[in-house]
Amino acid sequence: MVRLLINGAYHEVAVEQDTPLLWVLRDVLGMTGTKFGCGVAQCGACTVHVDGTPVRSCQMAVGDVGALPVVTIEGIGATPAGAKVQKAWMDLQVAQCGYCQSGQIMSAAALLAQTPTPSDADIDAALAGNICRCGTYVRVREGVKHAASLA
Ligand code: FES
Ligand code: FES
Repeated sequence: MVRLLINGAYHEVAVEQDTPLLWVLRDVLGMTGTKFGCGVAQCGACTVHVDGTPVRSCQMAVGDVGALPVVTIEGIGATPAGAKVQKAWMDLQVAQCGYCQSGQIMSAAALLAQTPTPSDADIDAALAGNICRCGTYVRVREGVKHAASLA
């Protein structure tokens, strides 16, 4: 059994220690807001926070998560930065197909939690690993700036 703290709640799951966190979130716990894109840490669709740091959950084994708190797209709205990002995304209608947007939001929320007023370079660096096949990059960056401006 592996015990995980996800969005403030404990879950005990019967998986091997080397099972990717993404598999546990989606297939075991039914938290399907976190997306599978590439499976090899190249697209960012599977981004979650582990102890406040954005990580690619497709490449992180649950055994390496240990007791560290995990936050997913299902829980990010309960954080101050996450709530701002979600409001900004709605205000600006950032998403197109939406598939990449959980990962975009998680990366944006992690950035704003650390850097409340990011520069363009900060935004580019934080979002560089999140690929969008719909090309929403301009709106994503506007969304981060709008989120940063919200009280
Ligand atoms: S699915 Fe994890 S980075 Fe693409
Ligand atoms: S909104 Fe479609 S992949 Fe990004």
